[in-house]
Amino acid sequence: MTELVTSDPDGELVGKPTSVSRITLSHIMTAGDTNLLGSVHGGVIMKLVDDAAGAVAGRHSGGPAVTASMDEMAFLEPVRIGDLVHVRAQVNWTGRSSMEVGVRVLAERWNESSPAQQVGSAYLVFAAVDEHGKPRRVPPVVPETERDKRRYQEAQIRRTHRLARRRAIMELRERRAAEGLDDA
Ligand SMILES: CC(C)(COP(=O)(O)OP(=O)(O)OC[C@H]1O[C@@H](n2cnc3c(N)ncnc32)[C@H](O)[C@@H]1OP(=O)(O)O)[C@@H](O)C(=O)NCCC(=O)NCCS
Repeated sequence: MTELVTSDPDGELVGKPTSVSRITLSHIMTAGDTNLLGSVHGGVIMKLVDDAAGAVAGRHSGGPAVTASMDEMAFLEPVRIGDLVHVRAQVNWTGRSSMEVGVRVLAERWNESSPAQQVGSAYLVFAAVDEHGKPRRVPPVVPETERDKRRYQEAQIRRTHRLARRRAIMELRERRAAEGLDDA
């Protein structure tokens, strides 16, 4: 069972519950957002995802935060002109200065009364930074519900894989450089 942190190792920062920074950003899609097929550009949705996640990271960390990475952006269904898109974001996990923000994208079709349908999801890592752009510490997130706790645990798995992948790639590059292989 994963242990949930409620204060940082120095005891300086008090944990913040997930619900304190959770937000929903809503936006109606217009003609300028579409590609030649009439559905909304993936990049338009990614911008909304980054905006919502950035607002959550800033709110949780109490100051500026920058996108360090965006991964597992999944587009499940097309979004069309007139659709009302809701982007729901929350802090899933916190490290020393980084936060994983999970985002769900839902769409309400303009011409249907059916409930909002999930059309996408993504995980982003934000780093909280100081006035010089250097990483600063963040308060630990305190998951509240069983769903928050599952998301926290899943985020830890993704964090482990991100670090392992980065390390493996760096080691490969160093080995190639040591062998005198130059691909520049
Ligand atoms: C993100 C950034 C602040 C990291 O700075 P750094 O000097 O590499 O600092 P660190 O290595 O200590 O990383 C800080 C934290 O971010 C995490 N991190 C850094 N790069 C990451 C990446 N690519 N993916 C996931 N996490 C990352 C680190 O694991 C660390 O987490 P922790 O403190 O919780 O353990 C720096 O690379 C940066 O400013 N990047 C540009 C961000 C930006 O401008 N985004 C908008 C693009 S237009």
